[in-house]
Amino acid sequence: MPSHILVAYGSKNGSTREIAGWIVDALNSAGCEAVAEPAADVRTPAPYDAVVLGGALYAGCWHRDTARFARRHTPVLRDRPVWLFSSGPLDSSASEREIPPVRQVRRMAERLGARGHITFGGKLDADAEGWMARRIVAAGQGGDHRDPDSVASWATGIARELRRTSLTS
Ligand SMILES: Cc1cc2nc3c(=O)[nH]c(=O)nc-3n(C[C@H](O)[C@H](O)[C@H](O)COP(=O)(O)O)c2cc1C
Repeated sequence: MPSHILVAYGSKNGSTREIAGWIVDALNSAGCEAVAEPAADVRTPAPYDAVVLGGALYAGCWHRDTARFARRHTPVLRDRPVWLFSSGPLDSSASEREIPPVRQVRRMAERLGARGHITFGGKLDADAEGWMARRIVAAGQGGDHRDPDSVASWATGIARELRRTSLTS
């Protein structure tokens, strides 16, 4: 039976929402049944076999909706396979090396018993919300630093692991 997977995300300017969509596409191509939902809209992750939870990074923290989701649903999440992702760096660092989770996310990963975490590059456009965002873009530090192939390959690894564990359990 295919794994039913929730990809829940917190995104202010939409780029993390797109990453969640790429994850869903890759999971579904690998034979899973995945859906993406804004973390704030999910009543409970209980109906799902596995959860991928991700958020944009702002000032060294996960997007508020992602952090809240993780706190609110800790008991349900601890009970099923969970993977985490963060999106943020506005340079090529995420494509060049593994970027460890920020402290808040590392602690949450431990609390949830997450099977993995990855940091993807971020995106910031001139039309992003907030004066700080516009200042960053005006300083020439915006742009799209996401890599759809590495997102897809990470998600395909999740599908593979779920298949392997469902065969052995
Ligand atoms: C005010 C502000 C603060 C940010 N802080 C961080 C940060 O602490 N770490 C990081 O890696 N990226 C940081 N970023 C970059 C965002 O995480 C990046 O633009 C991300 O792709 C935004 O995701 P979203 O479009 O889903 O909101 C920041 C961006 C802004 C505008």
